[in-house]
Amino acid sequence: MAYLLRSARYLSHDVLKEAVQKGDTVIDATMGNGHDTLFLCELVGEEGQVIAFDVQEAAVESTRKRLEEAGVLERAALYCRGHEHMDEAGVTDVSAIVFNLGWLPGGDKSVTTLWETTKIALEKALHLLKQHGVLLLCAYPGHAEGDRERAEVMNFLASLPPQRYNVLHQKFLNAGPGAPENFVIQKQ
Ligand SMILES: C[S@@+](CC[C@H](N)C(=O)[O-])C[C@H]1O[C@@H](n2cnc3c(N)ncnc32)[C@H](O)[C@@H]1O
Repeated sequence: MAYLLRSARYLSHDVLKEAVQKGDTVIDATMGNGHDTLFLCELVGEEGQVIAFDVQEAAVESTRKRLEEAGVLERAALYCRGHEHMDEAGVTDVSAIVFNLGWLPGGDKSVTTLWETTKIALEKALHLLKQHGVLLLCAYPGHAEGDRERAEVMNFLASLPPQRYNVLHQKFLNAGPGAPENFVIQKQ
């Protein structure tokens, strides 16, 4: 089958396929409708675990249903809590952490990720990653908070020490304003 260069989100899935092994512990920092949570459950297999966060009960329920239908619910712990509390889940040596910023698709657009809490979560996430673990973040400029959050994410990630982290930024240059942007961080 031909290789297709698709959206920024699919690029992050390509990285996850390489970085996550069966039996790993991974975190979905923004479960939303559970697409990424399901993808992670498939990657970690029966012996692995996925810890997932969202502040909206609707997101948790939507994700629970998706995982149940796929028969992988027992691989996941779903928390209706902000990702800024991810250190309280009691896991360490995490091989991948996924942030998909913004609001719940089809949900309340006033409930969106905010830089103030995203920053706390990113700091904790970098701490929880094991050596060679990856953090994937997809940002959505094109609305006021999304623009602000993306700019702050850029500043934060660009300032990480290169001896400890590799930081990659991907975006489709000809996709117009508001196109999603993907960031890949690997701990050295
Ligand atoms: C773009 S959606 C995520 C989509 C999801 N990855 C998927 O595959 O369906 C962003 C989600 O972040 C959630 N969110 C907002 N603030 C949050 C926070 N502080 N902690 C965790 N999730 C948050 C929103 O409720 C929304 O569901």
